[in-house]
Amino acid sequence: MSIRIGIIGPGRISDDQLAPGIGALDDAVLWSVLSRDLRRASNFAEKHGAISPNPAHTDLSSMLADSELDAVIIATPDRFHAEQACTAAEAGKHVFVEKPMATSVAEAQSIIDACQTGGRVLAIAYHLRWHTGLRTVRDRIQQGEIGSVRHIRVHWTFRAADDSDWRAFAATGRWWSLAANGTHCLDLIRWMLRPEAGEVVAIQAVTGGSVWETPHDETAIVSARFESGATAEFCTSVLFDSASRVEIYGSDGTVICDDTLGRHGAGAILFNGSPLEYEVVNPYEGEIRDFVEAIRDGRAPEVDGHEGMRNVALLIEAAKNL
Ligand SMILES: NC(=O)c1ccc[n+]([C@@H]2O[C@H](COP(=O)([O-])OP(=O)(O)OC[C@H]3O[C@@H](n4cnc5c(N)ncnc54)[C@H](OP(=O)(O)O)[C@@H]3O)[C@@H](O)[C@H]2O)c1
Repeated sequence: MSIRIGIIGPGRISDDQLAPGIGALDDAVLWSVLSRDLRRASNFAEKHGAISPNPAHTDLSSMLADSELDAVIIATPDRFHAEQACTAAEAGKHVFVEKPMATSVAEAQSIIDACQTGGRVLAIAYHLRWHTGLRTVRDRIQQGEIGSVRHIRVHWTFRAADDSDWRAFAATGRWWSLAANGTHCLDLIRWMLRPEAGEVVAIQAVTGGSVWETPHDETAIVSARFESGATAEFCTSVLFDSASRVEIYGSDGTVICDDTLGRHGAGAILFNGSPLEYEVVNPYEGEIRDFVEAIRDGRAPEVDGHEGMRNVALLIEAAKNL
């Protein structure tokens, strides 16, 4: 039988990727939707073919009271993740939380505890781990094909249209560029280098914001060091568009990834000077498939709550002013 999934927060990422991602799987179905507005929930449920007889909700408790609902995807503003995730786990649902999983370590820990207590799967949405090209790069780095990693540099920015984004407000988010792209950059860096390089042992950020004067980072430049001595840096911004790039330098080789960051699962990769051929797939399908299989097989997902919490802790450590 299919895993029945509810979506909490039918916004852009749910509409563009998460609901279609569920729809692409054979053994999962979109069951129900929670919005603050019943019409939005109904429209979304209809558009994406939610199959519950009562698919549209505005009240979390009534959505979770549905015994046929197996799991939820939480795709609301970051400040709301912890309370919604804990409530869902306490109601017996498996939980998939969008990144960053929370806005404090205590919140992240509370989600982990709630899922552990209830024996529920907890997965965190870092879709780049299912980018086939980046996955191949990681495998080959782990096999030593560029020797010991010395440095990794990630650059990923975009230009926000205005400051109406909830990430710009303290009531709904804690970071802006760091929450939009930076948390992905940090996950990518740790995923590429660990376990070989050990854990991040030092991290610091310079954050800037001169355009909209919001309390949050409009640009952030983060530098870090791993136990092995390998260093890392990433730049994120909501002030300008630029081509994304990942550069990985090892003792015996180099990897350059152009335009691989984003939603598309594509981009050009040069591995030790040779183009890397790979199949372009939708990485969001991969992350949801992993969640569904973890539920079905009773195993941990690839990106668990501890990975998500480590990411949150490092963002906080890096950008102490935010
Ligand atoms: N993994 C990725 O690639 C990726 C990409 C983008 C976003 N995300 C993550 O997904 C989550 C949602 O981001 P998004 O870009 O989809 O945001 P969004 O388009 O603004 O959608 C968020 C949804 O949350 C609901 N919501 C509830 N309370 C809200 C409030 N006070 N203010 C605004 N919305 C509220 C809204 O639905 P109703 O108005 O219908 O209630 C809204 O549609 C975030 O955690 C974000 O970091 C992940």
